[in-house]
Parts: sequence; C-alpha cells; structure tokens
Amino acid sequence: MAKGLFITGTDTGVGKTVITGGLAGVFRKNGVKAAAFKPVQTGGIESGEGLLSEDALFYQAAAGLPYSRDMNPYCFRMPLSPNIAARVSEQIIDPAYLVDKYHNLTCENDFVLVEGAGGLCVPLVDYGFTMADLAHLLGTPLLVVARPGLGTINHTVLTVRYALWSGLEVKGIIINGYREEQATLAERTNPEVIEGMTGVPILGIVPYLPEMSVESGCAGGLLETIEEKVDWRRLM
Ligand SMILES: Nc1ncnc2c1ncn2[C@@H]1O[C@H](COP(=O)(O)OP(=O)(O)O)[C@@H](O)[C@H]1O
Ligand SMILES: [Mg+2]
Repeated sequence: MAKGLFITGTDTGVGKTVITGGLAGVFRKNGVKAAAFKPVQTGGIESGEGLLSEDALFYQAAAGLPYSRDMNPYCFRMPLSPNIAARVSEQIIDPAYLVDKYHNLTCENDFVLVEGAGGLCVPLVDYGFTMADLAHLLGTPLLVVARPGLGTINHTVLTVRYALWSGLEVKGIIINGYREEQATLAERTNPEVIEGMTGVPILGIVPYLPEMSVESGCAGGLLETIEEKVDWRRLM
C-alpha cells in the first residue's frame, strides 16, 4: 500500500500546486513511484475535451505525470468553494467516490500526494464536510504550505492547531515564495516562531522562482530547488 500525504495550505494561492508538483517530481527523480491527486478542482480550464484541471496540468509539467481524469475526479468551471462550484454545475461531491479514486492510485504507486483546495475548513459538501474531513477519510497526514510574510504566524498556527484538534497528523510546514534579498525582519523570524509555537518542523523554505508559473505550465528550476531546499526524505 502506498504512503499518502495531504498538501494543504494556510489559504488559496500559497503554492500548494507548486509544492505538490515539485515533490512528485523529486520523488520520481529519486526512484519513488509517486502520483499526484487533486480531488476537486474549481476554476477548471475550458478545452476541446471538456474542463481541465490547471493543477493537474502543472503536475504533468513538473513531474512528467501524464494528465488523466484519475488525477482529478471533480473539475468545476467556477472558481468558488467546491460545494458551491458543484452546486452551480448541478452536482454534489461524493466523498466515497474520492476515497475510491484515491485507493486506486495507492494500489498503483508507492506514494500519493493529495492537493486540497484552499485551506482545511473549505467545504466540499454543505455544510459540514471539509478538506480536513477528506484528509481524515483518506487517512493521510498533512503538509502545510504557508506564505513567508507578515500575517503568516497567525494563519499557520491556526491551521496546525485546527488540524491537531481534528485528529490529523501534521508532518511538517513549508514556507514558500521566500525572497531572501528583500526579506523583512518578520520574514526572517517567522520560521522560528512558527516552529516554536506549533512544535511542527519547518521542512523547507522555498525561494521565489521568477521563471516558474503554474498558469503557464512552466516548472523551470523547481525540482532542483525542492531537492536542495526541502527535507523531502523526511516525508517518505
Ligand atoms: N516559489 C514560487 N516562486 C514563484 N512563483 C510561485 C511560487 N510558488 C507559487 N508561485 C505562483 O503563485 C501562484 C499560486 O501558486 P499555486 O501553487 O497555484 O497555489 P495554490 O495551489 O496554493 O493555490 C501561481 O501563479 C504560482 O505560479
Ligand atoms: Mg492549487
């Protein structure tokens, strides 16, 4: 049975897709058969073959994983929370279906990286079933992706404490998008404060990579950076 890891974030847009694609690529480069899974994508991209998941397309670009529907069971057009995006499409997300799809991937791989949408309290089903509940159902520990700047102590500590309160294990935290040359005192001290307050290790501080972009499917330099800056072996 494969190992699983649920990549959550303190918010949307913090770099979950970048870290998921990057880790999948590093694992594969080092001989681990890793898959990436995006249970629910909102803001899907229109194409000739229907809606496509931008996040799964980035996993393909970063980790060389061939794009398939198995990577992303639910894809909705509207960039909304999953429960409302599903409602607008006259659908209801079925958590049991997501568990099935996840289990298929765990049978075929050594490691499955699951990317949530938004943060832990984002709802998939009205009004109780959240990303935290999905992580629980999949039985996966968490990796939390956080921003480097002012405000991140509160967001990250809230996320970790909520995860622990929900009975989830938090393997580590990654600070993403750090700009060393212009780092403020807050940015330089945040990792130490977050680690001290949560007792969860910061497994890496990933720099801002100007060449890389999820939207343009460009992963330039990402794998080398993750390999160097993230203690990825501790996640295995
Ligand atoms: N380390 C980084 N360097 C440069 N751009 C980044 C970095 N991490 C994320 N981005 C950009 O920030 C945006 C949000 O990242 P993404 O991984 O899609 O976040 P999330 O999955 O949490 O919503 C994207 O445009 C992505 O290309
Ligand atoms: Mg994403």
